[in-house]
Amino acid sequence: MAKMNDDKLNIVMLDDSCTGDADRVFRSAFNINDSREDIIRMYCSFQPDGYFIAYRNKIPVGMAGAIDYGAFAYIGMMAVDNPCQRQGIGAILFRHILEWITKKGVSAAFLDATDTGRLLYTQFGFKPVDITHLYALRIHPSPPPPDTRVSTVRESDIGRLRGFDTPIFGANRDKIFRTLLGHYPGRAFYTTTPDGRLNGYIFAQTERIGPWVASSEPAARSLLSAVLALPFKERPTVSVPGMNGRAKPLLEAFGFSSVFQNTHMRRCDIGFPDHRELVYGQTSFASG
Ligand SMILES: CC(C)(COP(=O)(O)OP(=O)(O)OC[C@H]1O[C@@H](n2cnc3c(N)ncnc32)[C@H](O)[C@@H]1OP(=O)(O)O)[C@@H](O)C(=O)NCCC(=O)NCCS
Repeated sequence: MAKMNDDKLNIVMLDDSCTGDADRVFRSAFNINDSREDIIRMYCSFQPDGYFIAYRNKIPVGMAGAIDYGAFAYIGMMAVDNPCQRQGIGAILFRHILEWITKKGVSAAFLDATDTGRLLYTQFGFKPVDITHLYALRIHPSPPPPDTRVSTVRESDIGRLRGFDTPIFGANRDKIFRTLLGHYPGRAFYTTTPDGRLNGYIFAQTERIGPWVASSEPAARSLLSAVLALPFKERPTVSVPGMNGRAKPLLEAFGFSSVFQNTHMRRCDIGFPDHRELVYGQTSFASG
């Protein structure tokens, strides 16, 4: 297949005027029927200047984006319209995202790659460092008893969440917390130790559970019980780092099973001091 030249592709920042185009590209790339426009809009709220759509002869053919967390960037939503794949569009878009990250002054970049994506990212120096599993709820468990140490997260709790989460995630993600609380009020909880220290939190999106971070398995269990008492549009899913060995038996005990897995890849000069073993659920594959 003839390869694309950069000048044949018009890459523009994604905003409200083109989320419909991005949705068409995304569904074609991943071969899915249902609209993902709400999710694309949410990513643009996380990082309004970080998501892009590529047009060829005014026809949308690709999309991609990244979130700048300061310490690193998380790349995601890489998608090329199915009939236009393998023509060099993905590589041009990916290079565009890497240039955007460099301009932001960020040197490390992380992502979760599908098998096809992995072949592309390897060429840009990304190395596999872990697996990220997708778990889906199969059987809804009977409602768990209420746990008195679980509280609902409010806007005023974001500082406490940040203090607990930053050393584990490796960066400040206030913008994710704020956006999710705005989108899903009343769907986030935290737990505390008997002496009042925050030791875990969880967010429930429409169909996704995460971010979900806890310093102990009992705290993670209480948090999962709290969100499973909420209604979900579809059976909820969780993106789980393979490094967290406690997440798998916990999710299986609650009726979840593994659906598929992506490769967690990184491009950074030194080992990164985060703690994926305490992350039970990412915000998503695309945002870490
Ligand atoms: C992954 C994806 C974005 C790549 O975009 P693309 O425009 O098809 O990729 P390119 O044509 O720029 O390919 C660049 C290189 O990546 C590798 N590659 C890409 N697709 C490949 C495939 N299907 N099989 C083998 N290698 C592949 C090749 O090395 C290729 O170079 P080459 O064609 O000179 O051998 C696109 O295939 C896609 O949208 N796939 C479905 C959704 C998906 O998996 N997204 C990635 C999420 S992490």
